[in-house]
Amino acid sequence: MKTERIPAGELLETGERVRFQIPTGHTVELYAEKTDVGNGIGYFDPDVDVLDGPGIRPIRMDHCLLYGGDIEGNLKLFTEVLGFTLVERVKLEDGKTDLAIWITCSAKAHDIAFVRSPEDGKLHHVSFQMPSWESVLRAADIMSINRVSIDIGPTRHGVTQGTTIYFFDPSGNRLETFCGGYDHYPDMHPITWSWENVGRGIFYHDRKLNDAFLSVVT
Ligand SMILES: [Fe+2]
Repeated sequence: MKTERIPAGELLETGERVRFQIPTGHTVELYAEKTDVGNGIGYFDPDVDVLDGPGIRPIRMDHCLLYGGDIEGNLKLFTEVLGFTLVERVKLEDGKTDLAIWITCSAKAHDIAFVRSPEDGKLHHVSFQMPSWESVLRAADIMSINRVSIDIGPTRHGVTQGTTIYFFDPSGNRLETFCGGYDHYPDMHPITWSWENVGRGIFYHDRKLNDAFLSVVT
């Protein structure tokens, strides 16, 4: 695999990066240094929150879901080289081939997910972590007040067990507010979902997929 070194500072407030292409065609960059911009509440005797902050106020980016062909190649690279573990998978009708995989390099239910698709290099969504289910519902209120285009939700995933809203930003990329998901430890066995239950896995309450969720990638 070809790698490229990008000098420190080329991306603002970021140390040296190593850039490479993963088997699904997405460009990945690794770096170890980033300027600390603080946590919003301080590092000494902090309060738990900031009163009257603007917007939905996610805690941070949580994960992304990417579409491409060779998700087996991605799974091998991320687990054998980059130290990720497989948390959950959905099988195709044959019961053998993975339709989707959720992987983590932390104790979270996932840091990246991949879905098999004929077209490489596609983005399905970028997700932001919320502190509670109540804050996800509040985010839905704020989206409606601002006439944001909502794909689906608020609802809950069977996969990862997280609560969610999918919505679109003005340029058409899908974003997600996400809360929950169980803790994952590397000695846990991956969870497998069958093709018959993929609807329940993705949207636990509706128990079926919607057309926009399946067809819109950017
Ligand atoms: Fe997600």
